[in-house]
Amino acid sequence: MILVTGLAGYIGSHTAVALLNSGKSIVGFDNFYNSSPDAVNAVKKLTGKDFPFYVADLTDVESMRPVFEENKISAVIHFAGLKAVGESVAKPLMYYQNNVSGTVNLLQLMMEYNVKRIAFSSTATVYGEPKVVPITEDFPNSATNPYARTKLFIEGILKDVCKTDPEFSVVLLRYFNPIGAHESGLIGENPNGIPNNLMPRICQTAKGIMKSLTVFGDDYPTPDGTGIRDYIHVCDLAEGHIAALNKIQTSTGVQIYNLGTGVGYSVYDLIHTFSRVNEINVPYVVCPRRAGDVPILLSNPKKANDELGWIAKRDLEDMCRSSWNFVKDK
Ligand code: UD1
Repeated sequence: MILVTGLAGYIGSHTAVALLNSGKSIVGFDNFYNSSPDAVNAVKKLTGKDFPFYVADLTDVESMRPVFEENKISAVIHFAGLKAVGESVAKPLMYYQNNVSGTVNLLQLMMEYNVKRIAFSSTATVYGEPKVVPITEDFPNSATNPYARTKLFIEGILKDVCKTDPEFSVVLLRYFNPIGAHESGLIGENPNGIPNNLMPRICQTAKGIMKSLTVFGDDYPTPDGTGIRDYIHVCDLAEGHIAALNKIQTSTGVQIYNLGTGVGYSVYDLIHTFSRVNEINVPYVVCPRRAGDVPILLSNPKKANDELGWIAKRDLEDMCRSSWNFVKDK
């Protein structure tokens, strides 16, 4: 049985669907800090499959214990964590306690129950401001904010644990920019409050919740002057976890993979593609650059393609269509 921590979240819920559809049995938990039971029910409805689910919190070991006590867990896919960069700057201790200490709690339970395989939800943010692109897994790491630092710390902790036990198996998955939603429209990205990321903000502008989208800078050294990112459809990302799971079940030690498409799109590419495929206007204004943004982030996904046999298949139109399909009637 595969334990999915943070199952009700954006990537957790899509991965749960992919796991169930590929015939795996799962158990999940979430604390619903930034998600809701609706996502758990939607996963069950979408797949027609039931699974044990717990309300539990990484920072409360005893709340997680029944998950390990009552289920025979063979591997963990660890999504649970806080992920807002701005909030992490304002509340660093909350981020270190939840993400770092919480993961230590999870690992201690894994040790106690002899569970030695884990895939960890990391981020391309651990590459800091790379000097060149595309980025390969051996690029140097740095953190420009507490959120990124929690991910780097956890990567380091997992590497240290691996050194103590030759049977331990870890896969670190460094996501680029996940967007899009399941084609059913039942699960997707549902951020609380005002979102920070580009696609949720495009959606809010299209719905009229925001009057216009702020384009953070059109003077970058890119073809149209706006920032370029490696956007990846969340369903492709979810499938990457299935491939990673096969890897941790057949290997030991630490493996690191970029999960991206290797193709970059600008802010204007997103706005224009979204408007065209959904036939809806997205008004925008150009503003100064956002502090901390880099001009271009782009993955080299070759290692994941070659070693995991995984490749991102969905294009930007799919990403824009499905994102809108999820939010348009909410
Ligand atoms: C951000 C986080 C990163 C996190 C990732 C996924 C920062 C500095 N980085 O990455 O740590 O892993 O989200 O959650 O917050 N943009 C606009 N207008 C907007 C919003 C964004 O022009 O209203 C632009 C940005 O300048 C950037 C691109 O859109 O060029 C993508 O931004 P965003 O979706 O926030 O992702 P990242 O900044 O790449």
